[in-house]
Amino acid sequence: MGPIGVFDSGYGGLTVLKEIIAELPQYDYVYLGDNARAPYGNRSFDTIHAYTLECVQKLFDMGCPLVVLACNTASSKALRTIQQKDLPRIAPDRRVLGVIRPTTEMVGTITQTGEVGILATSGTVASESYPVEIKKFFPHVQTYQLACPMWVPLVENDEHEGAGADYFVQEYLGKILSQSDSIDTLVLGCTHYPLLMKKIRQYLPGGITVLAQGKIVAHSLKDYLRRHPEMETRLGKDGTQRFYTTDDPAIFDRMAEIFFGKAVTSEKLKLD
Ligand code: DGL
Repeated sequence: MGPIGVFDSGYGGLTVLKEIIAELPQYDYVYLGDNARAPYGNRSFDTIHAYTLECVQKLFDMGCPLVVLACNTASSKALRTIQQKDLPRIAPDRRVLGVIRPTTEMVGTITQTGEVGILATSGTVASESYPVEIKKFFPHVQTYQLACPMWVPLVENDEHEGAGADYFVQEYLGKILSQSDSIDTLVLGCTHYPLLMKKIRQYLPGGITVLAQGKIVAHSLKDYLRRHPEMETRLGKDGTQRFYTTDDPAIFDRMAEIFFGKAVTSEKLKLD
């Protein structure tokens, strides 16, 4: 029996973990933030794959039979290689899930105009994962993308409620919406972005739905566990939560509270 591992480059995955715990409180969880090497957003495919795989291996070493990549950048750049090439070699009986597939399964059911905007990191946008996955489920949906490179630093530096955030929220919303007048659904395709929700709603014209991923991923995980009893029975069910960071735990704990909504006490995980 082992915990569910939840991984992000930094703090963003805590917005997903919070919703997963609300939906599935009975399980044990281990969160790992690779804060020492965040942000991942502008890094190369090879680097993101190497970092993500190393962290997934650490979560396996802690006994996790199942790991959720609660990071779009890792999901778009590393998940497929991990699932298809690495897992059969290093841990054929374990599973790694991402956040993009559950999100793309939803969007076509929400948009009325069939035009959807994706706001994400440069890495996620360059991977084309969202347009490709959305086309598979909803061939009629037209996808527009925009990289928002300033949003993660604003959030990571606790400036998401400051004046700099107002500027960059307006800037990026203006740019994505200028691509088409018919966009009626915006996906926050980065787990950091829900922290900017208040300002996004403030500057967004009416009639546009904003999708954050936390609840979507939580529902999807619940459904996955229902469909995979062989995995579900391997999960610890004492309702425990442990937090690890590859950087300074004191800094992590201070920042994590903003993302997770309550205080956490983390431990340092040393990378090899
Ligand atoms: N939270 C990550 C995501 O969902 C992005 C943060 C980063 O750039 O490391 O894409």
